[in-house]
Amino acid sequence: MQDNRIAGFSKLNKQEKIDWLRSHFLGNDPNAQALLTGFWHRDEALQNILDGFSENTLSNFPLPFGIAPNFDINGTTYAVPMVIEESSVVAAAASAAKFWQPLGGFHAEVIDTVKLGQLHFRWSGSTARWEQFFPYLEQLLRLETTYLTTNMEARGGGILRIEWCRKPEIAADYYQLLVSFETCDSMGANFINSVLEQFGVTLRDWAATAPELLHNERSLEVIMAILSNYTPDCLVRAWVTCSLTDMEKALHTADNVRHFCQKFALATQVAIHDPYRAVTHNKGIFNGIDAVVLATGNDFRAIEACAHAYAARDGQYRSLSRCTIENEIFRFELEIPLALGTVGGLTKLHPLAQLSLQILGQPSARELMQIIAVTGLAQNFGALRSLVTTGIQAGHMKMHLQNILIHLGASPAQIAEAKVYFSERTVSFTAAREFLAQQ
Ligand code: MEV
Repeated sequence: MQDNRIAGFSKLNKQEKIDWLRSHFLGNDPNAQALLTGFWHRDEALQNILDGFSENTLSNFPLPFGIAPNFDINGTTYAVPMVIEESSVVAAAASAAKFWQPLGGFHAEVIDTVKLGQLHFRWSGSTARWEQFFPYLEQLLRLETTYLTTNMEARGGGILRIEWCRKPEIAADYYQLLVSFETCDSMGANFINSVLEQFGVTLRDWAATAPELLHNERSLEVIMAILSNYTPDCLVRAWVTCSLTDMEKALHTADNVRHFCQKFALATQVAIHDPYRAVTHNKGIFNGIDAVVLATGNDFRAIEACAHAYAARDGQYRSLSRCTIENEIFRFELEIPLALGTVGGLTKLHPLAQLSLQILGQPSARELMQIIAVTGLAQNFGALRSLVTTGIQAGHMKMHLQNILIHLGASPAQIAEAKVYFSERTVSFTAAREFLAQQ
């Protein structure tokens, strides 16, 4: 049997890595070489930057970079860059943006921007003694991290609060510092982690050397120092609102607008109370959110993990959005924690992330929170509007048709003809193949 293990893979150069992969996993497929090198960027310097984002890179994995125009948010019109592979997401966002334009556009406000981090450690001293030392320790922790916090403080941020707790259910000697931060326009992961690691060093040194400690209080072991991606107080709210009369004009439909709005609100209620629906409902919100988070070089894993925890904050996973109809006014709202950055990290290094921020007018992190929340709301509006009226498959399959036709090697003329042919027919892979065979 072929041995597919390898030591020192990371030390091979890119071509050697490809050769090894081809011979061990791809039966020396010549297409693999062409495919992988075909996606290398022709500008070597740029390719080196892309390679630097990860390890063992062989090539690039392109995703579509699109624009959803006409987003009126708090009176400013944005063209929103979106990186997403799912057909109809950008179209739905653009359509929802356009829909809300004559109705006053989208509104958004940042509720707060607090980021969090934790130092987990064990200490052999008692709670009473810790309480006694803590005021001094807090000063010491702040003092010994001054070299890290000075710049952030000059930008208006820094360490906000240092709190502590014990959790005996974890371990009898377990202590935790829960630290809150303001990191201004940066996501702040490096800053927070550096501060927390210094806190660990400071506490360890204090336990080892402080004259006020008893012999049995000298054992302090840092378990880990790391930011928390759960930031329920880094929160933004986005909403749309209009009268039912205005909604009727916007919908251009003879259908009963009140019935549509009530059905829409009921669909949201279902997602508030039923986790099976809530996950799909929120997935639709993330179709918009992730796409802009990716386009702007932010960390979509952190955003997802945080917002899903937030959606389950009362113990049940629920919709992140809600809808009300009161006094003839329709209001649809999304509240979501979004810890984002517009400086530093990938936002600075990835040329297309930089371009996205330029398209958005170099927003602050607070402004980007609002833009991204609005995109999530727009996406959710588009999905629910389709779901409670035509269903999503009609629009979805229309967009999907293009992918199928390209996959089957259709010419631009055949694609145009197929679009007309399928406007009244059900799209499927087989139907598209049969259509092409008859051409
Ligand atoms: C598909 O990507 C997203 C939807 O399923 C969202 C939803 O059901 O609300 C359409």
